[in-house]
Amino acid sequence: MFNVGIITASDKGYIGERKDESGKLIDEIVTNNGYAVKKYVILPDEEEALFNEMVHMSDDLNIDLILTTGGTGFSERDVTPEATRKAVDRLAPGISEAMRYYSLSITKRAMLSRGVSGIRNKTLIVNLPGSPKAVKESLEYIIDSIHHGIEILK
Ligand code: MTE
Repeated sequence: MFNVGIITASDKGYIGERKDESGKLIDEIVTNNGYAVKKYVILPDEEEALFNEMVHMSDDLNIDLILTTGGTGFSERDVTPEATRKAVDRLAPGISEAMRYYSLSITKRAMLSRGVSGIRNKTLIVNLPGSPKAVKESLEYIIDSIHHGIEILK
């Protein structure tokens, strides 16, 4: 069974001003798809904190799949893609392209997510947008195909 790390990037979530529905929803979806959630954290929208957590989950915890939610938009504090680019050795752009392709049929605003996907050693990292609606739409679309990718990484 593959294990998953969930990182919610949210200044408001971190200080307890917003309930993290998106992180919980990721947990629900991956669990229903046969993954085990090994770690779940809420972090502020800080590039270094996000980068450090991705490295820790990959290098120390040997997590197979890291899913982030939030911080992919145009606000000055949205830095999840920048942290992810630093953490990965190889980009896997097709995953993010597929999410945007499908999401554009639901809302044209899908073009505003700057999320990236990539591989650090044997860990796949995928940025999902922040809202629960966007998480559900994006993750359910890619989940079968990324499973095959993770199998190849092992
Ligand atoms: N993707 C899907 N499938 N559904 C959505 O509702 N919202 C978009 C986009 N992607 C959306 C989506 C919007 S409005 C924004 S601003 C971006 O994701 C970035 O979101 P984030 O900053 O919360 O990561």
